[in-house]
Amino acid sequence: MHDATLRNRAGQWLEPSRRSDVPPFMVMDVMAAAARIEADGGHVIHMEVGQPAAGAPKTAIAAAQAALATARIDYTSALGIPSLRERIARHYRDAYGCTVSPDRIVVTTGSSGGFILAFLSMFEPGDRVAVTVPGYPPYRHILTALGCEPVLIETTNETRHALTGEALLAAHRKAPLKGVLVGSPANPTGTMMSREALAGLITAAEDAAIRFISDEIYHGLDYAFPAVTAAALSNDALVINSFSKYFCMTGWRVGWMVVPDILVRPIERLQQNLSISVPSLSQIAAEAAFDGAAEMEEIKHGYQENRRILIEGLPRAGLAKFLPADGAFYLYADVSDFTSDSFDFAKQMLEKAHVAATPGVDFDPIHGRSFVRFSYARSAAEMRQAVDRIAHWLK
Ligand SMILES: Cc1ncc(COP(=O)(O)O)c(C=O)c1O
Repeated sequence: MHDATLRNRAGQWLEPSRRSDVPPFMVMDVMAAAARIEADGGHVIHMEVGQPAAGAPKTAIAAAQAALATARIDYTSALGIPSLRERIARHYRDAYGCTVSPDRIVVTTGSSGGFILAFLSMFEPGDRVAVTVPGYPPYRHILTALGCEPVLIETTNETRHALTGEALLAAHRKAPLKGVLVGSPANPTGTMMSREALAGLITAAEDAAIRFISDEIYHGLDYAFPAVTAAALSNDALVINSFSKYFCMTGWRVGWMVVPDILVRPIERLQQNLSISVPSLSQIAAEAAFDGAAEMEEIKHGYQENRRILIEGLPRAGLAKFLPADGAFYLYADVSDFTSDSFDFAKQMLEKAHVAATPGVDFDPIHGRSFVRFSYARSAAEMRQAVDRIAHWLK
């Protein structure tokens, strides 16, 4: 009784931690509104979700089915099934001509699981880590939840939205940085870093003892020029990748990292404690996914066609300002000629044109109100329809 009174008076004993107070994804509101329109019989073109319309490669599904029929689904070693780690290392040789030891490969629960392991193994609470804006929101939110301080550095059109060594070092001079994380191809901008831009940034970071993390989840989906892996440029960079996007395996929750030698054992210990291992069925499927490259290339060609339709069609529809759509499946459009509130713009576009897109505020607390992100991971017919609907609405 006495304890209960104390608890009630304190009133705070069940309050969630401050570190769990991370912002939600605004796109969820768009998705909920789209679902309401569909429930009323409307037909929405979904360009808000960053998820491939296609499923996993047939090779991956067949391997998973065979494993279910014949094998036990057990824990695996914390760093991942050895044959998968070897297959991923071979991928670096085949795709980039670069040698990576399988010992440095860590299989993760999607790249999302990779971020947690990477940040925990590299940073202390309070460490400052640079991320770009616009950028993928969980970078900053995971850092915050782990007690690190995300330092937002704006990227601009002048550098194709690539973070430069100068901008990084300017932020470092203001207050020391422990790390920097960039993605190329990037979400939400779809822009890519050239080899020179990436190499320059890595050199600047490493010369200043700033740890470098490269999110390469959209590799394979490069249209403007071939994507370059940070693993080919530095053995000290930490590379994060995933089977979610190129291999269309979002729900399988499997990804990987290439980590500096010195971090292998710490990350192994973290993974042992945090999740024991990545789901083994997903690892088995992931290994076989590499044999489905022909199927995945077909899907990539589909994105390429979608990209062409939007690059040609959106200006005719009235949306003529967007960033170079170099890779991934995103086009980031400047809608400031129409609104100073991209959330409202996306809402109106959904209600009036039945086209769902993501307001830039999710990705950019500074200029996001001027931008909307279109995802072009669905069919070409839907892309054409979307352009027509937007044109009709903006007329
Ligand atoms: C840039 C970027 N990184 C990482 C992720 C996380 O993907 P996953 O955890 O499925 O590998 C996403 C998902 O949309 C993303 O856009």
